[in-house]
Amino acid sequence: MRILIIGASKGIGLETTRQALAAGHHVRALARSATAIAVSNPSLEKMPGDALKPEDVEAALAGVGVVIQTLGVGLGELFRPVHLFSDATRVLIAAMNRQGVKRLICVTGFGAGDSRASISCLQRLPFQIVLGRAYDDKTLQETLIKESGLDWTIARPGVLTSGPRTGRYRILAEASQWRNGIISRANVAEFLVRQIGDGAFIRKTPVLIN
Ligand SMILES: NC(=O)c1ccc[n+]([C@@H]2O[C@H](COP(=O)([O-])OP(=O)(O)OC[C@H]3O[C@@H](n4cnc5c(N)ncnc54)[C@H](OP(=O)(O)O)[C@@H]3O)[C@@H](O)[C@H]2O)c1
Repeated sequence: MRILIIGASKGIGLETTRQALAAGHHVRALARSATAIAVSNPSLEKMPGDALKPEDVEAALAGVGVVIQTLGVGLGELFRPVHLFSDATRVLIAAMNRQGVKRLICVTGFGAGDSRASISCLQRLPFQIVLGRAYDDKTLQETLIKESGLDWTIARPGVLTSGPRTGRYRILAEASQWRNGIISRANVAEFLVRQIGDGAFIRKTPVLIN
């Protein structure tokens, strides 16, 4: 199976690239700095490109069966209006529909969409001040995905750490269970790679925490 990972050069995307290769998938890794990915594997195609440019996304989708979107913005960008998530998702959905690619697995975060209501009273104000702009855009991104008609899964991790892959984390699928916590990028990547061949979380928005 050829997998396209959008945002593959760092963080969750890079971990997902490593784990998908280890699971035997062919990975096309899209990021502006894709050529700098320090992984060498005959099944890895490093594709430098911009998720906001339709021509880059169209080219990256050729022959792909599953798309994993793990885009992120830098700390400095959190204090300006954020449009990356929704803009890149509009481009992606249009391109997937044109090319007939149905499966989209996307990372947003705890606090996006209807999980915002599950943020504790204590965390609500700091969350709004620091992450409000980014998460407003992630909420729009989630709406676009839910309305896309694709076979989507939205993974909403809690606070990310750089810890190891342990396989020990919780998948909170029901709104009544949602709460914040921590989880390693490597464990989020494990969840994403498991979804490649598994439809159990299609049209679901699980929160992922330890
Ligand atoms: N930090 C947390 O505690 C936390 C909690 C929950 C959810 N999240 C979310 O989890 C996601 C992943 O976070 P992370 O820290 O693992 O990722 P990250 O280190 O921020 O990596 C972001 C990736 O997106 C790529 N990217 C950004 N703009 C792009 C563009 N225009 N075109 C192509 N690629 C682009 C970057 O590559 P290039 O720069 O090379 O293009 C990079 O590979 C983010 O959405 C983040 O908000 C974070």
